[in-house]
Amino acid sequence: MAQHDTTHRPATRGILLAGGSGTRLHPMTLAVSKQLLPVYDKPMIYYPLCTLMMAGIRDIMIISTPQDLPQFQRLLGDGAQLGVRFAYRVQPRPDGIAQAFLIAGDWLADAPCALVLGDNLIFADHLPAMLRKAAERTHGATVFAYQVRDPERYGVVTFARDGAALDILEKPVPAPSNWAVTGLYFYDGRVRELAAGLRPSARGELEITDLNRIYLAENALHVERLGRGCAWLDAGMPDSLMLAGSFVQTVQARQGMLVGSPEEAAFLMGYIDAAQLRALAGRMGRTELGRTLMAIADGATPTPAP
Ligand code: G1P
Repeated sequence: MAQHDTTHRPATRGILLAGGSGTRLHPMTLAVSKQLLPVYDKPMIYYPLCTLMMAGIRDIMIISTPQDLPQFQRLLGDGAQLGVRFAYRVQPRPDGIAQAFLIAGDWLADAPCALVLGDNLIFADHLPAMLRKAAERTHGATVFAYQVRDPERYGVVTFARDGAALDILEKPVPAPSNWAVTGLYFYDGRVRELAAGLRPSARGELEITDLNRIYLAENALHVERLGRGCAWLDAGMPDSLMLAGSFVQTVQARQGMLVGSPEEAAFLMGYIDAAQLRALAGRMGRTELGRTLMAIADGATPTPAP
């Protein structure tokens, strides 16, 4: 049989960054990590976790503050119940998103890697296929752009007439376009080395946008535009937290389909079987979520194709 390039390529690993002090959500986050706050019926971190799982990623490192990390370990364990492997590491200080690659360095080795921010919720019908495509890319980086009303809060990308990405800037005022860069990134095996060369920005952080600019300068940054049929929400402020919760509630109530359930994602991805899903559902007690998962295990509820 002919050998294909991907045969010896290490599997894409995932980093879930759940650090920060959540100052924009004080006092809610004075005693509780932002990424543990509820988004409707689940802890916030479940949503970005599902994103990584739906990309086919099974080795996931969760990075958080020294005081919050034990809570994530308590919530998620070693991942065996979901057919995945969780590793945990501390980010001692919030020195920037790109620092995650240095913290995860030896664990990453030279594997390609996806990074998702713990407060980002992305929802789209075609998302799993898009994620898998990004995870399978052997060269360069992939980011996702979404049109928002308040781009100056985010990384912003500008496009040439032919659709090619021209520039990417961190929180520019005024913003040159309304295309925000979401908190989901895919990188090739060079990411650790490139992150090691970054210098802190004016606000003292290792900026993910600076890393993306390196790939852009090499013509190796793929920018996927998320269109109208897609929802990207970040739950980092009271209003956006509320919007995210309402969104999840609306979709679940209307369609009977779950948003952001790692149990369902594990089942749809074939990481666990129906009996394992039933056991997880049973642990949720008499909640609507538990009942829905039970119905999914029984094949009685519509499930989206992964
Ligand atoms: C970070 C990134 C920014 C990105 C955003 C997505 O911003 O620096 O480029 O658009 O996440 O949520 P922060 O949440 O640190 O303000």
